[in-house]
Amino acid sequence: MKKHTQILAPTAENIARVADALKNGDIAAMPTETVYGLAGNALDARAVAKIFDAKQRPTFDPLIVHLSEQTPVDTLVDIKKLSKLARERLEILKKNYWPGPLTLVLPKLALVPDLVTSGLNSVAIRVPRHSIAQALLTQSGLPLAAPSANRFGRISPTKAQDVMNELQGRLDWILDGGPCEIGVESSVLELRVDGSLNLLRPGGISQLEIEKLLQTQVGRELSLVEKASPSPGLLENHYAPGCPLFLLSGPALRGSEPDRVFNEVLRKRPGRLGVLLYSGKPQKIQSQLSLILGLPVVALSLSENGDPLEAAKNLFSHLRQLDQSGAEILLAEPCPTISGIGHAITDRLARAARK
Ligand code: TXA
Ligand code: MG
Repeated sequence: MKKHTQILAPTAENIARVADALKNGDIAAMPTETVYGLAGNALDARAVAKIFDAKQRPTFDPLIVHLSEQTPVDTLVDIKKLSKLARERLEILKKNYWPGPLTLVLPKLALVPDLVTSGLNSVAIRVPRHSIAQALLTQSGLPLAAPSANRFGRISPTKAQDVMNELQGRLDWILDGGPCEIGVESSVLELRVDGSLNLLRPGGISQLEIEKLLQTQVGRELSLVEKASPSPGLLENHYAPGCPLFLLSGPALRGSEPDRVFNEVLRKRPGRLGVLLYSGKPQKIQSQLSLILGLPVVALSLSENGDPLEAAKNLFSHLRQLDQSGAEILLAEPCPTISGIGHAITDRLARAARK
């Protein structure tokens, strides 16, 4: 049955109301410092099934479980399986990055439903630092499974209204926490029982930072989820706007260097072109390109002075804005650095792009 979805101001009363709904096995959207999540009781397989259903997410793609700051990780994680080195590293990672945008994949206890982990024997755990997410976790007293609150494969939401546009009619409540502070999802780091580390998804905390902190190398192997995916490419093609997106270098966009993709795209004669610049002022490029191509162009810049944190914060909302501008093709300039959060920006754009 179609639901009447409402955006709620984060008053104490509304937070209590949503916490009660979660305790009753319902799902609701909550803000976090990275992106908005679609939350449900992680220990209730029926609530978890509602999340998969609302997102139309295939059940082979496991969910992240969120914990309150007070909940010990060993309520869900089988700490006994970890070697001494792994336990030491876990303590250092927790101390430095929780609460915050780091998700750790660790051996799970049997009480975590298989649906949450897609049958894997590990569970992804994150302690968000957003005060509304923390309030919901504490007041419901539940671990909350929460994937990004978008339909599967689409752009992650960084505002309450984005969640409304993605999932209207599929949930009752969206708690409004304003725009998300970071704008891209958490880094997902696998801590194996022997203590070795593997970065499964770049995000708010960089590989280099983790390597420096732990004085060890972090691998970049495909996750079991991606390896076992029944349809390779399904997980790879993510964060997609409604119209095709192509990556183009800055010089190609600024007209100083010919680019094969550019010519190919133009041969399709789009009615309107959307351009996502990494830095600089968009107005100039917008009028230049429009004049050269003889078609309407709408350009946005992720950060006029090239600040990677600002660029990450704007990434998904700018993609959405261009998607909604009537553009038929989007061209995006990749982040010039792949260090720090630039790695996460480049990863998301590469996955959004047409292969
Ligand atoms: O910032 C975030 O992490 C947001 C907010 C809402 O917390 N959540 C989020 O969830 O991005 P989601 O479901 O969109 O992404 C979860 C990622 C997926 O790539 C999934 O494959 C991976 O985590 N994952 C979850 N459990 C895993 C496991 N046991 N082993 C390997 N990867 C896992
Ligand atoms: Mg997601």
